[in-house]
Amino acid sequence: MASPLRSLVYDDSRYQKAFHLFLECSSEHQCMQDFIHKILPEILAGIGDGKSHLNVIGVGSGDVLLAQKSDLDYITFNWNKMTSAEFEDQWKSKQTPKKADFIHMIQMLYYVKDVEATIRFFQSLLDKHGKLLIILVSGESGWGKLWKTFRTQLCMCEISQCVTTADVKSFLDSEKLKYKSYALPSQMDITECFTEGDEKGELLLDFLTETDHFSRTASPQLKADVLKLLRDPACSLESNGRVIFNNTLEVIIVDATT
Ligand SMILES: C[S@@+](CC[C@H](N)C(=O)[O-])C[C@H]1O[C@@H](n2cnc3c(N)ncnc32)[C@H](O)[C@@H]1O
Repeated sequence: MASPLRSLVYDDSRYQKAFHLFLECSSEHQCMQDFIHKILPEILAGIGDGKSHLNVIGVGSGDVLLAQKSDLDYITFNWNKMTSAEFEDQWKSKQTPKKADFIHMIQMLYYVKDVEATIRFFQSLLDKHGKLLIILVSGESGWGKLWKTFRTQLCMCEISQCVTTADVKSFLDSEKLKYKSYALPSQMDITECFTEGDEKGELLLDFLTETDHFSRTASPQLKADVLKLLRDPACSLESNGRVIFNNTLEVIIVDATT
């Protein structure tokens, strides 16, 4: 029987609402900003090999916040409003010899059909000393536990959705590609998910399960099992009456092939 569950990615306006609520309830961006300011500069010190201009590719970056920044006029931006697969086709058809010094993919590999092919393509664009940065949820996070347990029930569309850094690392190991990884501890307050009928809780639950109206469309058994695991110490800690989900992210820095 076909599953009655529908992926949240098919309802863009509900996805956006759930995503913004997730950002409010979690330290998602804070932990990334800390990494970008405190650790990344040292990692990037060697890229470019003395060049005066660096080529940077951001995959899955948005242009909205840029309008609020006034101190970036030394950078030339070219926006390509297309998927990474379309970008790859375009790049190959132009047969451009240009290489990139730094490529970042922040929380976007969930949305491609083939994670391994995507990494392989972008890694092949790196110039000597170039680096590819990938950020995804850690395999050790609550997300990793949730997806490992319910992958067949929850990850039901053609994109990769339930991928974690554990999957990426095992791919990189199998390809013998050199990389380093950094855990970014992060939390998400999911207390409201346990109040039946709570609007905020239901949206967060949609985001966690990546399912449109999970509470309404999942079977009572699946709903009970998911809520039980979300509260389990494998996924969350309880503190001062709040349920705090382990939202740990992981950064993977892949080197250029020498
Ligand atoms: C969850 S958002 C992350 C945005 C931002 N990097 C952050 O961390 O807040 C995912 C981003 O991936 C982009 N995206 C989705 N599917 C994509 C694809 N197939 N190729 C490239 N980017 C994609 C979306 O447009 C969105 O900007």
